[in-house]
Amino acid sequence: EKDIYILAIESSCDETAAAVVKNGRDVISSIISSQIDIHKLYGGVVPEIASRKHIERVNQVIKEAMKEANMEFEDLDAIGVTYGPGLVGALLVGVSVAKAIAFAAKKPLVGVHHIEGHISAAYIENKELEPPFISLVVSGGHTNIVKVLDYGKYEILASTRDDACGEAFDKVARVIDLGYPGGPKIDALAKVGNPYAIDFPKASVKDSPMDFSFSGLKTAVINYVNTCKMKHKTFVDADLAASFQKSVVDVLTEKTLKALKDHDMKVLSMAGGVASNMGLRQSITNMCEENDIKLYIPSPILCTDNAAMIGAAAYYDFINGKRDGWDLNAVPNLSF
Ligand code: KG4
Ligand code: ZN
Repeated sequence: EKDIYILAIESSCDETAAAVVKNGRDVISSIISSQIDIHKLYGGVVPEIASRKHIERVNQVIKEAMKEANMEFEDLDAIGVTYGPGLVGALLVGVSVAKAIAFAAKKPLVGVHHIEGHISAAYIENKELEPPFISLVVSGGHTNIVKVLDYGKYEILASTRDDACGEAFDKVARVIDLGYPGGPKIDALAKVGNPYAIDFPKASVKDSPMDFSFSGLKTAVINYVNTCKMKHKTFVDADLAASFQKSVVDVLTEKTLKALKDHDMKVLSMAGGVASNMGLRQSITNMCEENDIKLYIPSPILCTDNAAMIGAAAYYDFINGKRDGWDLNAVPNLSF
């Protein structure tokens, strides 16, 4: 059969990314231009600035991805693009440029759900991975345990009641002045801290075994820091980071195991920015070894936002016949 080449574009938050992916699994080229250096000056992503930087960079990023793949637009089979969820102005840049290329090159257009992209990242390095499996999705905007029934078919088994997991990492990092994005900084600090130093509450909801809640934990960390300051008591940043991270990781691991058992599943993947957290990767790896679960964790660079994962998801949408028209729009709160 003929190989399918898709140019994928991702601009939902603060990375401008383009990739060429063959048959949903082989990354021919992948370019990621991060805006973190700009947004960190403000302590978080500034939506207006994100949109403007995407506009400035998107054409160059696409050009580089095409050049690295040694291809012209006419060699492509389709254009895939993230159309939600995300920042509306940021998404619009990717969607507009994808439509322009698809229209000019007379290629099909495929809108991709950002979280489906994250889940599909696991297909890239693991050619044997096929549904059904469970995916633990932990990003800046989402915390879900998902049953992947088939390509493009999902059942949500667990969700967060309030903050997303990555959001909690970023907020806790801000409380101890670690800067943005906080996740990787907490991760690094936690490695040298004592996870048993402070007893923080669990990131779960009482009486609801399949729901996460991170706001109570976040508030407990903020209160702890404020109380210490008020009483002129010192604490070790690394111990706080390690104790907070343990609270998060324990609950994610526990609920993921419960989902695997309840659904009699033996295959697990991880997805999203927080899946690059070393403490979480270790804990999930141990849990899988103890319970005879086959685990697929994408490399950290495929866990955080990139366009290769969008190309993987777009491929399965494409072969299932999904096509979008010129009315494709950015949907900032696109549901799962
Ligand atoms: O998936 P992602 O790149 O973007 C979204 O779709 O949200 O996730 C970004 C989130 C941020 O909250 C960031 O702090 C977190 O992932 N993150 C981490 C780590 N690397 C990124 N959290 C914990 N440990 C990490 N190593
Ligand atoms: Zn993401």
